[in-house]
Amino acid sequence: MMRFEHKDILDIESLSPRDITMLLDTAEGMKEISERPVKKVPTLRGKTIVLFFQEPSTRTRVSFDIAGKRLSADTISISSGTSSIVKGETLIDTARNLEAMNPNIIVMRHPSSGAPELVARRVRASVVNAGDGLHAHPTQALLDMMTVREKKGRIQGLKIAIIGDIAHSRVARSNIQGFTKMGASVVVAAPPTMIPMGIEALGCRVAPDMDSCIEGADVIMMLRIQKERQENILFPSEREYSNLFGLTLERLKRANRDVTVMHPGPMNRGVEISEDVADGGHSVILDQVTNGVALRMAVFYLVSGGQKNAN
Ligand code: CP
Repeated sequence: MMRFEHKDILDIESLSPRDITMLLDTAEGMKEISERPVKKVPTLRGKTIVLFFQEPSTRTRVSFDIAGKRLSADTISISSGTSSIVKGETLIDTARNLEAMNPNIIVMRHPSSGAPELVARRVRASVVNAGDGLHAHPTQALLDMMTVREKKGRIQGLKIAIIGDIAHSRVARSNIQGFTKMGASVVVAAPPTMIPMGIEALGCRVAPDMDSCIEGADVIMMLRIQKERQENILFPSEREYSNLFGLTLERLKRANRDVTVMHPGPMNRGVEISEDVADGGHSVILDQVTNGVALRMAVFYLVSGGQKNAN
């Protein structure tokens, strides 16, 4: 039996390829539970999971909630608007008060990079990062790796193209780290204003333009422009951005014939991705969402001390 050795999941950086493989294998095994007529197992009965989201979310929040419920845990949601943070309570005081109610897991989304780690150091509960500032979105990267492994049968040796607002994307950072750790080669493209200095240190290559980025790609991951995190306007117009960095059926011809198209959502149709690509035969965008539930079930199971059969 193999045991998962982490109390918290805060980023991809701190996970080894063995940890990632254990999470993906466990998630693969969890997937079947969501296809049963009764989508529930008693594995985490008696455990309490707090979902503490201080930024908007559809996919991540709902899938963590469903994942907890499918494992029979009790899940409780709080958001910035409905918590006493609006009355001036600090993050640490909020965390200490949540801890006093003895939850087993706290899932946190926060606009500040490092906030989940700060909380993890102060509480006994496991902390799972559901996205912090520009820093990390580890469960998104894990579900993306799960989806690629499912579609391609492997990650090792694939060319993964990531295109869009790399500078403001925690999804890009976590995916670059994850896919390179698992043996893929990652190439990114964006307007120069959306490529952070030193991004190559994460293990990726920067392509000079979108066409060379997707040339021969096995996987193309499109990212939205994160206007809410940009202090200045980083490109002349949406139309120009779309012409240079939007994924269309015509551009897709440069990639491998069996290319897989991904997007973490939310999508801006007609800006970074055309309707026909988003809904076309190469798109696995909704499979990513389906896999998000299984992956988050695996996260809850393993940080709760669940074991995986060694094979
Ligand atoms: N991919 C993602 O994090 O989506 P949400 O913001 O809807 O959770």
